[in-house]
Amino acid sequence: MKFFVDTADINDIRDLASTGLLDGVTTNPSLIAKSGKQFLPLIEEICGVVDGPVSAEVASTDYETMLKEGKKLAAIADNVAVKVPLTPAGLKVCKELSDAGTMVNVTLCFSALQAVLAAKAGATFISPFVGRLDDLSQDGMQLIADIVQIYGNYPEWYTEVLVASVRHPVHILESAKLGADVVTCPPAVIKGLYNHPLTDKGLATFVDDWKKTGQSIL
Ligand code: G3P
Repeated sequence: MKFFVDTADINDIRDLASTGLLDGVTTNPSLIAKSGKQFLPLIEEICGVVDGPVSAEVASTDYETMLKEGKKLAAIADNVAVKVPLTPAGLKVCKELSDAGTMVNVTLCFSALQAVLAAKAGATFISPFVGRLDDLSQDGMQLIADIVQIYGNYPEWYTEVLVASVRHPVHILESAKLGADVVTCPPAVIKGLYNHPLTDKGLATFVDDWKKTGQSIL
């Protein structure tokens, strides 16, 4: 399972990149606005910090402009994945960019049949938003289960399931059980995965008991 971080905060990205466990980054227009940074230079900076795919989303909604924006974003760095919305125009752009060899992340996916269309359009990644479905008392993880099952029936499709809108560790656990390819998570959710009280308690005991030996390894 690949871990992407869902943020445009360069400090959080650097911090997680230093763990050696970060496989990529996803951003969106809301995260870019929250960063307060200029979009294009920020994406270039992120692409220099992380070797894996960095999703940068188009801002327009019409085919012609999205295609121009997508080509400009793709030219920033080889590891840019152009993010397009799951709309008829967005999937037309997806098809054209992916046919030209550009990574494309199709975002704002809320149904399994939308995910079928994205795979047929040659998407590199499909981003089903589990948290936003859960927010409406729908079952976001059932969407992931449906997409993983359907994609498994068509080995000629190569679109990776990128679980997005992750709210907590259970989303990651369930995604791993289902065999999703990627999860993209807020920085705090990834950082929280290390934590367990019994780990802390056990380590404290080991440290104390080692001190009692009076020995040193070095
Ligand atoms: O960036 C894509 C997705 O992860 C955003 O989801 O619901 O946290 O805005 P959300």
